Amino acid sequence: MNKIIAIIVVGVFISITSYNYNPDWSNTASADTTDINPNKSSELSLLMRKMYDHAAEARQALASNKKVSYPKSFLAINTATPTDDHTKNEYYTTFADLYLQALENYESSSDVNRVKSYNNIVNACLACHSSHCPGPVPKIKKLLIADK
Ligand code: HEC
Repeated sequence: MNKIIAIIVVGVFISITSYNYNPDWSNTASADTTDINPNKSSELSLLMRKMYDHAAEARQALASNKKVSYPKSFLAINTATPTDDHTKNEYYTTFADLYLQALENYESSSDVNRVKSYNNIVNACLACHSSHCPGPVPKIKKLLIADK
């Protein structure tokens, strides 16, 4: 059942963004492993916190019509090690690449479509989280912004 939902979500997402797969996204950069948490967070957790911070900053920047570039370390989303080996299912890379595509679209957005392209980043977070890690979903939803 979850798989069917995942396929529909991906389908809708692909049709609303001009999906353009770039094979270089998989297996490129390696993760930044500096940890502020003494309990030793996973590479993927650390990366996710940075991704969250980037989205939150990008959200604030919308008010002044500015963009916040994302660090290239985000390209490690496909290779960063999760806390639990079984976290990633077979759709993980598809969701990760949708997120990277949404970041690219946001980077090239104009003043006219920036809010929409920003929301597409957050929707890409939500798409992956609904099938992989539902815990942070309420927190991520708060990043969405009402489009004008
Ligand atoms: C391709 C799938 C995927 C995408 C896209 C994704 N996440 Fe995650 N996220 C995960 C997984 C899997 C974990 C669990 C990581 C672990 O436990 O090692 C996670 C963990 C998190 C956490 C908890 C981190 C912690 O402190 O342990 C937050 C917050 C989070 N994600 C926010 C986001 C935000 C915000 C976005 C979009 C900007 C996003 N995620 C995009 C899969 C994804």
